[in-house]
Amino acid sequence: MVLMMMLTMMFINITKSELHYVGGDKFSWVPKVNLTEWSSHEHFHLNDWLYFGYDRDMYNVLEVNETSYANCITTGFIKNVSTGAGRDVFQLTEFKTFYFLSGGGYCSDGMKVAIKVTEGVAAPTPAPSPKSAAPAPSPESAAPAPSPEKGDACGIHLNQILLVFIFVFMWGISSNYISY
Ligand SMILES: *[C@@H]1O[C@H](CO)[C@@H](O)[C@H](O)[C@H]1NC(C)=O
Ligand SMILES: *[C@@H]1O[C@H](CO)[C@@H](O)[C@H](O)[C@H]1NC(C)=O
Ligand SMILES: *[C@@H]1O[C@H](CO)[C@@H](O)[C@H](O)[C@H]1NC(C)=O
Repeated sequence: MVLMMMLTMMFINITKSELHYVGGDKFSWVPKVNLTEWSSHEHFHLNDWLYFGYDRDMYNVLEVNETSYANCITTGFIKNVSTGAGRDVFQLTEFKTFYFLSGGGYCSDGMKVAIKVTEGVAAPTPAPSPKSAAPAPSPESAAPAPSPEKGDACGIHLNQILLVFIFVFMWGISSNYISY
């Protein structure tokens, strides 16, 4: 049962990781795309990934703090996300707002984006001992203040996945018993 809960939690985490193409497309980390508009229509879950696709000879991707984001300051950045290929990914591993901008003066042309991670389930705590199996937190209650409609949509989606998963899992157990 504990094993199953752990697998279920892992499964939730895997299925909930979504890839977001920044700007909406595979090559839209460019000036003059309204990235504020874009991000306002996205739902960012914990452990989702961002994808930045761009011309590596012109732009880059730097994670900065809020002040630097607001003022397009490219020095003293938090993380250089650019790897040099013009195709970079970044995983959203915390419930917070992440800020990104491009150097080269393009930030003031709109190449900056704030990504607020508000949804999802926190990582499972270390494996409980078999005797003190704590009840698994339900996805909804663990998510800090999800918006009502999105929370419901996620819940339904997850429940369906979980049902299928549990079914497959139980089926696996019974076929093991049969074969022994
Ligand atoms: C981008 O979109 C946001 C939200 O729709 C809007 O408030 C803002 O003025 C737009 N920015 C630009 C530069 O058009
Ligand atoms: C944000 O980063 C800039 C550049 O490194 C730094 O000068 C500033 O103090 C930082 N602000 C905060 C609130 O951490
Ligand atoms: C970020 O890292 C890439 C790859 O190592 C490097 O080419 C680039 O110069 C770095 N950018 C900054 C601003 O440090």
